[in-house]
Amino acid sequence: NFSPKNIIVTGGCGFIGSNFVHYVVNNHPETHVTVLDALTYAGNLENIAGLPEDQVDFVHGNICDAELLDKLVPGHDAIVHYAAESHNDNSIADPEPFLKTNVEGTFRLLEATRKYGIRYHHISTDEVYGDLALDDPAKFTESTPYHPSSPYSSTKAASDLLVRAWTRTYGLNTTISNCSNNYGPYQHVEKFIPRQITNILEGIRPKLYGEGLNVRDWIHTDDHSSAVWTILTKGVKGETYLIGANGEKNNITVLRMILEMMGKDPDDFDQVKDRPGHDRRYAIDSTKLQTELGWRPQFTDFEAGMKRTIEWYTENKSWWEATKEATEKRYKAQGQ
Ligand code: NAD
Ligand code: DAU
Repeated sequence: NFSPKNIIVTGGCGFIGSNFVHYVVNNHPETHVTVLDALTYAGNLENIAGLPEDQVDFVHGNICDAELLDKLVPGHDAIVHYAAESHNDNSIADPEPFLKTNVEGTFRLLEATRKYGIRYHHISTDEVYGDLALDDPAKFTESTPYHPSSPYSSTKAASDLLVRAWTRTYGLNTTISNCSNNYGPYQHVEKFIPRQITNILEGIRPKLYGEGLNVRDWIHTDDHSSAVWTILTKGVKGETYLIGANGEKNNITVLRMILEMMGKDPDDFDQVKDRPGHDRRYAIDSTKLQTELGWRPQFTDFEAGMKRTIEWYTENKSWWEATKEATEKRYKAQGQ
């Protein structure tokens, strides 16, 4: 087992990265975290505000900055790489930042990992596998071929392949995890669940793409964090682990659940233009992670998790209201 003392968490001011930093603070007080984040539109320092100063440091910088990495990486024993451009719709409107951050950024981090001989864990997505038919009994496994559909998922697939090549060629000590759709606090209001909750709070009708029959495999972000910690500390060099919690639901079911929980008519939403190339279904088989590393998801009650998430957005309006208007303006311009 690896006992990390001093880790760099890239993208630690984003949704999943910041939840991971909170997880480390709450569960592993012996591990110091340096958050490296460029604070793009998706990064928010408030996500890690109030955490103990002797355990969490913040460095404002870009993962593509090789000079900065040369200063920062020595003295750390692992990089946990969350930073990315993460939103499919943005990648369709303007793919270039996705190439920069997701591909070049990963390349820079791998080069720093190679130079300083430290451990590297790569956070990726189930979207690298493309999609499954709605009636297909299959789920993604570690041996499913790569078949990404969007500019976003193709850059994530490219970054995974860089990790594998650097591991084989240079012998780096890496692991990769591919997780399904996360939900929970601190998720940007551009994403499906926070967008609909904050729409309802703002008196805007929720927006469903197409018929809403596309299936996503929802996992609470705290379960993603515990899985990443398990892989970071117990994972086998060069291995890939899929993370999921059997949370398949179609979008219209999730939307109606949100509407009902917020006291609205379950049909009170707008159908808007579908996403081009929209993946139909994702589904994860996490048997390898469960049997080989002993991980189990804990927050599998989706209704309870959704209730807490609705409460969080209701109680933390000041966290999201500044970005809500600009986000909706962008969607409106796209007919969504
Ligand atoms: P997010 O968009 O909420 O956060 C991304 C963070 O990375 C932000 O804080 C941003 O400022 C930072 N960042 C972006 N470009 C950077 C750069 N060049 N240098 C330094 N920092 C930069 O993303 P998220 O939803 O939290 O996703 C985090 C990771 O998890 C991504 O790698 C994503 O592909 C992966 N993932 C996400 C999901 C999901 O459901 N959201 C599921 C599986 C995997
Ligand atoms: O599967 C993991 C992926 O999950 C991550 O790699 C991505 O970073 C993350 O953004 C997420 O991608 P999705 O495209 O699945 O998530 P999103 O929240 O954008 O959309 C979820 C589903 O809801 C998708 O089928 C599109 C639909 N949707 C989305 C929005 C924003 C709507 O119907 N209406 C909307 O307003």
